[in-house]
Amino acid sequence: MKKIRKAVFPVAGMGTRFLPATKANAKEMLPVVDKPLIQYAVEEAIEAGMDQLIFITGRNKNSIMDHFDKAYELETELEARGKDKLLELVRNIVPSHVSCIFIRQAEALGLGHAVLCAQPAVDQEPFAVILADDLIDGNGKSSLAQMVEQFERHGSSIVGVENVLPEETDKYGIVKATSIENAVSKVETIVEKPDPSDAPSTLAVVGRYILTPRILQLLNTTGRGAGGEIQLTDAIAKLLDLERVLAYEFTGKRYDCGSKLGYLEATVEFALKHPELKDDFKAYLKELACTKQS
Ligand code: UTP
Repeated sequence: MKKIRKAVFPVAGMGTRFLPATKANAKEMLPVVDKPLIQYAVEEAIEAGMDQLIFITGRNKNSIMDHFDKAYELETELEARGKDKLLELVRNIVPSHVSCIFIRQAEALGLGHAVLCAQPAVDQEPFAVILADDLIDGNGKSSLAQMVEQFERHGSSIVGVENVLPEETDKYGIVKATSIENAVSKVETIVEKPDPSDAPSTLAVVGRYILTPRILQLLNTTGRGAGGEIQLTDAIAKLLDLERVLAYEFTGKRYDCGSKLGYLEATVEFALKHPELKDDFKAYLKELACTKQS
């Protein structure tokens, strides 16, 4: 079976929920403590064994390209000031064995269309898709590394899932699935953003996928679906007729950083784990809680 080496990062969305912060800047460059969301996603892919990173970018996304590019001036400056630790940090954002490819999605026609834009770089290999705005703390092993392990065992496309509140089904792709073993089930149906009254379950697809290349052929003939966008969910629904697709309930905690509340939760919880910050930040939160109560 082919090893998964390619990760696709669709980063061409408009990020309207974060306006005006995303007027001239990419949502994926929003930092959680001191690292942009996209860097967490890239680190997750590299940890899971990927060495080809394919970014699907759009307007206002040049900062993403710059972030993963060499920064000669900054490096020279840090070197001259003897800031070795920071220099190493800046130099090693992408290790030398990893390559980055940037493809432009001319129009934000939807996640499915963004994934289709990766076709020339993905070619005939299975690949991962990571949505950087779903930040997942895997508690030791990243969610994508867990999914790669499952792919190596089962050889089928896999979508990362978690249970959501019944009233939230209209924000996600929702699957109906039959259990195969602990945390792994076979997807029977998948539907994009169903109304809670029509949802087949509360098992929601979150931003981690491992897909066989056949999905790209299917995306080619997928028309606009929910919200007038070309939906990855609709192509996965077609894939179900041709191949087995698995749903995997990853271990870890997901933060929906595409929403303001989820983003704030991630910021607080990552700060509480940050080696340099955690003690002072905890003390600050305690003091704040006391003053607000009194
Ligand atoms: P979202 O549904 O979160 O949309 O996209 P968005 O535009 O980023 O944000 P809001 O809803 O306007 O605030 C899910 C993922 O798919 C990517 C986004 O960048 C995000 O990672 N995407 C979406 C694309 O790359 N292209 C698209 O056309 C749409």
